Amino acid sequence: MDFKFFDLALTKIIYVERRGYIMRLPGFYKLSVQDRLKKVAEFANLSEEEVKALISSAGLPIEVADRMIENVIGTFELPLGIATNFLIDGKEYLIPMVIEEPSVVAAASNAARMAREGGGFTTDFTAPVMIGQIQVVDVRNPESARFEILRNKSEIIEKANECDPMLLKLGGGCRDLEVRIIDSIFGKMLVVHLLVDVRDAMGANAVNTMCEKVAPIVGRISGGKPLLRIVSNLSVYRIARAKALFKKEAIGGEEVVDGVMKAYAFAEADPFRCATHNKGIMNGISALMIATGNDFRAVEAGAHGYAAIRGYKPLTKYEINENGDLVGTIEVPISAGIIGGATQVNPLAKICLKILGVKSSGELARVAAALGLAQNFAALRALATEGIQRGHMELHARNVAIMAGARGSEIDRIAELMVKDGKIRIDYAKELLSKLRGE
Ligand code: MEV
Repeated sequence: MDFKFFDLALTKIIYVERRGYIMRLPGFYKLSVQDRLKKVAEFANLSEEEVKALISSAGLPIEVADRMIENVIGTFELPLGIATNFLIDGKEYLIPMVIEEPSVVAAASNAARMAREGGGFTTDFTAPVMIGQIQVVDVRNPESARFEILRNKSEIIEKANECDPMLLKLGGGCRDLEVRIIDSIFGKMLVVHLLVDVRDAMGANAVNTMCEKVAPIVGRISGGKPLLRIVSNLSVYRIARAKALFKKEAIGGEEVVDGVMKAYAFAEADPFRCATHNKGIMNGISALMIATGNDFRAVEAGAHGYAAIRGYKPLTKYEINENGDLVGTIEVPISAGIIGGATQVNPLAKICLKILGVKSSGELARVAAALGLAQNFAALRALATEGIQRGHMELHARNVAIMAGARGSEIDRIAELMVKDGKIRIDYAKELLSKLRGE
């Protein structure tokens, strides 16, 4: 067993066991960037080169960036943080998050710490099945066309599967087909859905190729004209679920349970609040998607589309169990991969995937769901109690203290005084610093 102890002055003992039984990193946030990276490197077995790529701010070489998109003139950086304390289905995770907003990583880690006391997160995943849409217009008899397409579906599926022998070899491929008739401003239209198991890829390319390939057959059988042939981001067959028990003692008592329930009820009843509620969930999920080189817009679109499927609703739900504890659940489509796209082209995404240690796109989706739930619980708990500004202001104050020249333990001390006095300004930080140093 790969078990390591780190004795630190700041904390008592930090236990790290690679994907093992216990791995809390209390005080992780108080370490220097270098020391944090050291811990993560040990946990994930990062090579010296990988460590250098993370810290050198040259992780994405310009030649690689130039091949990723068009008209490249540089690269653009964002902070990469690590969410700690995540115990998901009995496995320990350090979750890489790329995000510009303060407090998000801390909030996720904090919620995950509370969830641990209820056993951590349990998760579930349907299958990595994406939907490819073929729009068929000018269909004279849509019902008959639908009948004929369904009757001939094996021919269409067979043709689709000629596109990607590698995917078939890996156990994926076009699995099934469905036909819908929709009402549009141009009257009835036929929409054929290819249901494609894309295994560990995000899958948009594979699906789009199949749609283009089979569209002429669909046209011939339906007697209509195939028009759009494109993946749907509303991936209802690629759903991740997570559940966590937040024991009332672990989260601040009955009042907090009640506050979170009422905050959830607000989102359930009001789309204006619900948009922000779901945004908070995506703070976590998108940060993980960016870190792993995934198309986070696709996941965002899927999540909000899913939330709106029966009137815009929260992606999370909360209940109180027989002991008065809070049980949170989330259900969200996650169309994200661990191969293909930028996941393997961007060296930083590769390193993040290594830190995360997921072995399949399904595992990535399950972690994303747990992270989304943690993020949402943290936000509701903060909003229903002290509000979120204090945490934000503390972080802001730390930055101001650093800008004023504070170092080491001076940073927290100066930040604390500025927050207490309600004066978070560089000139005040400098004044406090001189006093502290006895100048
Ligand atoms: C801020 O980025 C996210 C929150 O507004 C989410 C929420 O209100 O639930 C705090």
